[in-house]
Amino acid sequence: MDVQNLSDLYSNWQELTEHAASWDTKTLKQAFADDNNRAARYSVAAAGLELDYSKNHIDDTTIDLLMSVAKQADLKGGIKRLFRGDHVNNTEDRPALHTALRFEGAPSTDEQRDVQATLDKMSNLIERVYSGDWRGYSGEKITDVVNIGIGGSDLGPRMVTKALTPYHTGDVKVHFVANVDAAEIYDLTNGLNPASTLFLIASKSFSTQETLENSLSARRWMLEKGCPEDQLAHHFVAISSKVDKAVEFGIDADNVYPLWDWVGGRYSLWSAIGMPIAFAIGMDNFNKLRHGAAAMDKHFSEAPLERNIPALLGLLMFWYSGLRGTDTQAILPYAYHLQLLPAYLQQLEMESNGKSVTKSGVRVNYQTGSIVWGTEGTNGQHSFHQLLHQGTTMVPIDFIATLKAHHPIDHQHKLLFANCVAQSQALMTGRDLATTENEMRSLGVSDNEIDAIAAHKVHPGNRPSNMILMDKLTPETLGSLIAAYEHKVFTLGTLWNINSYDQWGVELGKLLGTHVATAISTTDIPGNWDSSTQTLVKKFNEANKSI
Ligand code: F6P
Repeated sequence: MDVQNLSDLYSNWQELTEHAASWDTKTLKQAFADDNNRAARYSVAAAGLELDYSKNHIDDTTIDLLMSVAKQADLKGGIKRLFRGDHVNNTEDRPALHTALRFEGAPSTDEQRDVQATLDKMSNLIERVYSGDWRGYSGEKITDVVNIGIGGSDLGPRMVTKALTPYHTGDVKVHFVANVDAAEIYDLTNGLNPASTLFLIASKSFSTQETLENSLSARRWMLEKGCPEDQLAHHFVAISSKVDKAVEFGIDADNVYPLWDWVGGRYSLWSAIGMPIAFAIGMDNFNKLRHGAAAMDKHFSEAPLERNIPALLGLLMFWYSGLRGTDTQAILPYAYHLQLLPAYLQQLEMESNGKSVTKSGVRVNYQTGSIVWGTEGTNGQHSFHQLLHQGTTMVPIDFIATLKAHHPIDHQHKLLFANCVAQSQALMTGRDLATTENEMRSLGVSDNEIDAIAAHKVHPGNRPSNMILMDKLTPETLGSLIAAYEHKVFTLGTLWNINSYDQWGVELGKLLGTHVATAISTTDIPGNWDSSTQTLVKKFNEANKSI
């Protein structure tokens, strides 16, 4: 087979296509009018989350057809294989056992025992730093912890640390540095005291350019600011699956926290990669985050697919991208503390499912991973929501909201929630021309102006969205939410028959990056490069002649 079609994978594809087309003439507004019970029918609650998926282009036939797709893809069997550690990452011949990082109760497998030993070691370090037993080179207490890492070694810990701000213990301040652009580490270290700063070097591979360069800069900064070389061990710990490389780099062997090949970088925040989170919120709350994820794991592996939050999230995106012509998805958390969630989900979803060949390497003839984007509400309302409401592109949305806030300013929390609900309602109901004209008329607008302006005020409506609700943003509910998205990604990978756990697509850019860096430092530019690349390198070298 040269090419994989979804019609080859799913025997009901023709039926799905015809059914999907029927939604071109149906409206959600009418679907709600026809069925008072629609919200209850298409809502499911589990593991501290409630998913209301009633504002989607679906009905019972859609669900039946999608359940048949899930059955044909053997999603249930796939979940079993994922959880028991089969080599689901077939191109790298290894499991994707992030679920083993949040086991419940006493450890019972080798993986769980390794995880527990690492968590215990991590807990001990945090306790020593908090208590002042671990101090900097001059005897000062550690006040600031800087995580140096990128991608999965940054986005998850950074997002969760921000999301759980109300749980920060205040014992240390936690910072993050990711970019190879030294402006980031330069600005940060300008405001830090080296004698009371601890760096965490987080890199699964311990070979990532950005992380190694920033770590060297941090090391130089410590030495320049007076830290004796033999005292550097007080200021650097590493988290890596390549313990030897970390030691070779100069990290004290006792200060290296292991990670394992069976954990993907973007799925690793539950491991020692989550150390900055644990430094910020304490080990008890870090464990609650893991327990929240474990609750979602149990739900995903045990609930029937029709009542299964991650499976439904995945099946809905499969429906939209494969059958309703969408190619992006917006993530709109109406929670300021979740402001980094869209960026985190960009890596989780796009690095996992941005693939063009099936698990066995056959080119796919269908769209796989969608472009994920978004920002926290209500900021987006004053920017890109215009396109969501009136643009020509349909964007399925995940709204995420909390019923209760951590702060005492109740009336603003009411407004926040009201805005979230109103956006999902307005996108769904829209406002047709006749209603718009009547409203303008009742406000005394002249007929001439109505003729000129009414069409611009029409909202087509029928724009789909999910609402994911939780009582409050806590370590448990956040853990559950993140795990739900991890499993949504797995669901989609299974339905598309792609490997969600490798990321070969990032390699070529890295390789060419090293070639361009060599051309810049040697000024020897290969003559067979395209003229654009040659000119850009020449311009840079010209501008930096003196350095
Ligand atoms: O370049 C992509 C990537 O490999 C991600 O998958 C990973 O999360 C990130 O780089 C960082 O990798 P590491 O933890 O090995 O430094």
